[in-house]
Amino acid sequence: LRPIHRLLSSAGTAAADVRREEQSLGSAETGSEDRTPKKRFSEVQKERREQAQRTVLILCPNKISEKKFLKYLSQHGPINNHFFFESFGLYAVVEFCQKESVASLQSVTHTLSMGAEAAIPFRSRFFNLKLKNPLSQTSEQSCLPRSNQLPPSSKKLFELLCDAESVDDQLNILLKEFQLTEENTKLRYLTCSLIEDIAAAYFPYCEIRPFGSSVNGFGKLGCDLDMLLDLDEIRKSSAHKTSGNFLMEFQVKNVASERIATQKILSVIGECLDHFGPGCVGVQKILNARCPLVRFSHQASGFQCDLTTNNRIALKSSELLYIYSALDSRVRALVFSIRCWARAHSLTSSIPGAWITNFSLTMMVIFFLQRRSPPVLPTLDYLKTLADAEDKCIIEGHNCTFTCDLNRIKPSENTETLELLLKEFFEYFGNFAFNKNSINIQQGREQNKPESSPLHIQNPFETSLNISKNVSQSQLQKFVDLARESAWILHQEGQDHPSPSSNQPWGLAALLLPSVANSMSHAKKKRKKPASERVKNLLESIKSSSTENSTNTNGK
Ligand code: GTP
Ligand code: MG
Repeated sequence: LRPIHRLLSSAGTAAADVRREEQSLGSAETGSEDRTPKKRFSEVQKERREQAQRTVLILCPNKISEKKFLKYLSQHGPINNHFFFESFGLYAVVEFCQKESVASLQSVTHTLSMGAEAAIPFRSRFFNLKLKNPLSQTSEQSCLPRSNQLPPSSKKLFELLCDAESVDDQLNILLKEFQLTEENTKLRYLTCSLIEDIAAAYFPYCEIRPFGSSVNGFGKLGCDLDMLLDLDEIRKSSAHKTSGNFLMEFQVKNVASERIATQKILSVIGECLDHFGPGCVGVQKILNARCPLVRFSHQASGFQCDLTTNNRIALKSSELLYIYSALDSRVRALVFSIRCWARAHSLTSSIPGAWITNFSLTMMVIFFLQRRSPPVLPTLDYLKTLADAEDKCIIEGHNCTFTCDLNRIKPSENTETLELLLKEFFEYFGNFAFNKNSINIQQGREQNKPESSPLHIQNPFETSLNISKNVSQSQLQKFVDLARESAWILHQEGQDHPSPSSNQPWGLAALLLPSVANSMSHAKKKRKKPASERVKNLLESIKSSSTENSTNTNGK
C-alpha cells in the first residue's frame, strides 16, 4: 500500500534555482587514476547518505514538462540535481540542496483514497504526481532525457568490443559500459534511505547501509542491492552510560543468542516491508540461512534487495574491496572482465548453488594481482602495517584492522598491460594446484589447504572460514578447463594478429560470447589435435619459457 500524494505542476511561483552540475564524490569511486587525494570509504558513505536524505523519488505521469516540474518542486527549495528513469513507469529522482525542502514538499501532499481500497498513511519520500490537467503530447516530453539503469545488450557489447582498437581497449570499454553510473549509485543510496525510513519506525536511529558490490567498486549495472540494518548507533548511544540507576533507557528483552536476535529483528522488518513498505514487493524472509536475510524487490528502483543485520564484517569486507578497487585502475577492468567471462560461461549464477560466486572471483583476481612481480596490489598484511590507532577495528573478536587511508598506500610499480594480465590470469589459474593450495589475500601467497574443499579461499577476516566452501569439484574443473581454453585463445590470437576490422570476434569478444567462443574453438579443433592435448602442450611450452614469478610479492 502506497501513500498517494498530489502535486500540482502549475502552482510554482518561486524562481527555479536548478543546479545541474554533478557533484563529484572523488576519483576513488570512478576509478580514474589521477593524483587527487582519494576519499575514504567512510567519507563516501557519509556524503552519499546525507545526499540521499535530501532526495525524493517521484512516480510521474508519462507526459510531463520537465521545466514545469522543476519549477513546481523548486518552490520547496533549490534543487541540486535530478534525473528521470523508466522502471514500471516514469520516475524522477530529485535531490534538493537542503533536507528541509523534503519536509516542505511532504507538508503539501496528501493521501488519495482509492475507492474500495484503503491506504495506510505512511509519510514516505516516495511520491506519486497526479496532474489535474495531463499535458498533451509535447515535443519537450518526447525528448525528456532518461537515465539508463541497465547494462548494454550482448549484441551491443559485442559490437563495441569488436570495434575496439586493442584488448586493453576492450577491457576498458567493458568496464565503462557495465560500471554503476552516478545516477544508479544515487538510486541505490536513495533506496537504502527510503527503507531506513520504514525500519526507523521500529528502531529509531537505526541506519540502513549499502554494502557488497553496490559500494565496493565492482558493482555492475543490474546487480543486487545488499543492505545492512545497522543498530550500532543505538548501541553506541547507550554504551557510554555505565553509571546511574537505570541500565538502559528502556527495559530490553533478552534472547538466547545473537542469531535468534538477528532472526527476530529481520522477521519484524520483513513484515513491516511487506505490509507497509511503499514499492516493496515479493518479500521473502530467509531466516534459516547461514546469514539470515530478508529478500524483496524494490519495484520503483528495480533493485533486488537483500537485507541483513548484525553483519558488520561484510561491511568491512566491502571497504577492503573498495580500497583494492581504487588503488589501480587495472583492478576494476580485470575484475569486470573476469566476472563477465564467468557469467557468459555459466560459471556463476544468480541462483545459489555449487558454483563460484562473484565475491570469490574477485578474491581470486586480487590474489593473482598480489602475485605479479612487481605486485599490482599489496597484501592485506601490508595494509595492516599502515594502520594507525584510528583504524583499529575488532569485530566479534576478529581483527579487521587495515589502513582506511588510500593515500598512504604507494602506487604499484608494475606496468603490465591489461591484455597480458588477462592472459596470465587464465594461465595462472589454469595451472593452480587447487588440490593442495589455498588462496589467501592476507599474506598474498599460496598456503597448504587446511581442509579438503575443492576450492579454498580464506575469508580475509574470519580466517578459519573458506568463502568458497560451496564450490563442487565439477564446477572447479569447469573453471579450470575454461581458463585453459581462454588462455589458449588469447595466445593463438597473439600469434595470428587478427585484424580488429575483420568483423570476426577477437580478443575479449571471443572469450565472452559463449556461442562465439565455442564455435571458434570447434573450428580450430577440427583443424588440429584434440583441445585437451593442444592446451596441455601449449601450457607446457609457456611454463618452460616463462620465468617463475613467485618471489617479491608481499607488497612491502
Ligand atoms: P554481486 O554478485 O555483484 O552481488 O557481488 P557482491 O560482492 O555484492 O556479492 P553478494 O551480493 O553475493 O554478497 C554481498 C557481500 O556479502 C559480499 O561483497 C561480501 O562482502 C559478503 N559475502 C558474500 N558471500 C560471502 C561469503 O561466502 N563469505 C563471506 N564472509 N562474505 C560473503
Ligand atoms: Mg551483491
